Amino acid sequence: MSEQSGSGTGHGTPPIQIGLLGLGVVGSGAYKVLTDNADAIEQKVGAPVVVKKIAVRNLNKERLVSVDRSLLTDNPDEVLDDPDIAIVCELIGGVHPAKEFVLKALRNGKSVVSANKELIAKDGHDAMVEAAQRNLDFMFEGSVGGGIPIIQAMKSALAGNAIHEVKGIVNGTTNYILTRMTREGAELADVLRDAQAKGYAEADPTNDVEGFDAQYKIAILSSIAFTSRVQPSDVYTEGIMRIGAHDIEHAREMGYVVKLLAIGQRVGDDAVQVRVHPALVPASHPLASTSGPYNAILVRGDAVGDVMFYGQGAGMLATGSAVVGDIIEVCRNLRHHATGRIACTCFEHRRALPMDTVVTRYYVRMYVTDRPGTLAAIAGVFGRHQVSIESVRATAADRAEAIWVTHRVQEANMRRALKELGSLPEVYSVENWLRVEE
Ligand code: HSE
Repeated sequence: MSEQSGSGTGHGTPPIQIGLLGLGVVGSGAYKVLTDNADAIEQKVGAPVVVKKIAVRNLNKERLVSVDRSLLTDNPDEVLDDPDIAIVCELIGGVHPAKEFVLKALRNGKSVVSANKELIAKDGHDAMVEAAQRNLDFMFEGSVGGGIPIIQAMKSALAGNAIHEVKGIVNGTTNYILTRMTREGAELADVLRDAQAKGYAEADPTNDVEGFDAQYKIAILSSIAFTSRVQPSDVYTEGIMRIGAHDIEHAREMGYVVKLLAIGQRVGDDAVQVRVHPALVPASHPLASTSGPYNAILVRGDAVGDVMFYGQGAGMLATGSAVVGDIIEVCRNLRHHATGRIACTCFEHRRALPMDTVVTRYYVRMYVTDRPGTLAAIAGVFGRHQVSIESVRATAADRAEAIWVTHRVQEANMRRALKELGSLPEVYSVENWLRVEE
């Protein structure tokens, strides 16, 4: 096969040299994939792809992969300033100093691969502008969905579509917790403690359980899907901490499962609605069967219809796969002097609509008096705020439990109804309310 075809043996062709910043879980995965599959990668690229230098914070730390110590340095400039290194992989996470490293690499003429969702969601635009000015690549497949190839898919294979919706389960930790609560009937705090002991949840799980991890990811996915920048601050975000075993049990009895969903929707030509929150999903929906630490993302395009992506949302080799996919793409571009082909795709401006404008269905669980007229009084409040009831189930007890499911209604109306219900004499307490998504 000729070199112009994009592949070849690569024998005799000078290697493309890579520098890694970080050798944690993702860095180790990328290094392992690059070295284990080096021969095939050389064939696919048409040149050997070799790691020349790896900058780490602590030279003496035990590593997940065996790496020749001579590759390691604790000085990031040995990667960023090395003229032989063509591609820098930023795999350290966090905004600072990752951002400064990425910008320096680009200013030094190197293409960059990153798996840093927080940096890309908050400040990715700066790096994209810098890369575009220099015709360099800035790629970040590993930032969303671990090994799931969603970003390159939306930027290339699905580029012919107007995408109307991107939604899914993009946080493995919370999906693992909710899956176990569903299977075991357990309370969240108990499952979380056990997940931390087993290494499925971080010692400080805030980013995952409060929804920030999913917020960054849906901001990135929505920016690409809707060709308009969505900032994390545009994303309405609720985590899973207020989900009780009780809610999951009621959901199950009604044919639903509770999932933490990340949802981006295009509204008309000039707006988007982007949100992260727990929701009841019909048990028959493909997202409902996404269990444990897995992720699933559904993209709705005007031409393609629905496309679903499913896979491991985290992990050393899965995320390493995504990072190496980007490295190979950059290497191919380098071989053909074509880096910078795909610049920032946020070329439109769509405003982010507030959560109050969302129209969906709701589940409400409350304790109420067990007297004639109670349900009618509550239904009256819902009715005054245009909240139409689809179903109600109530237990008989001094403190009766009532579970309401509504038809579709605007969130602003629902919140007004809930506020009024809070002071209705027939209602002891509104225990929880959740959105119900189709
Ligand atoms: N903390 C993330 C999750 C994995 O639980 O899905 C890294 O993005």
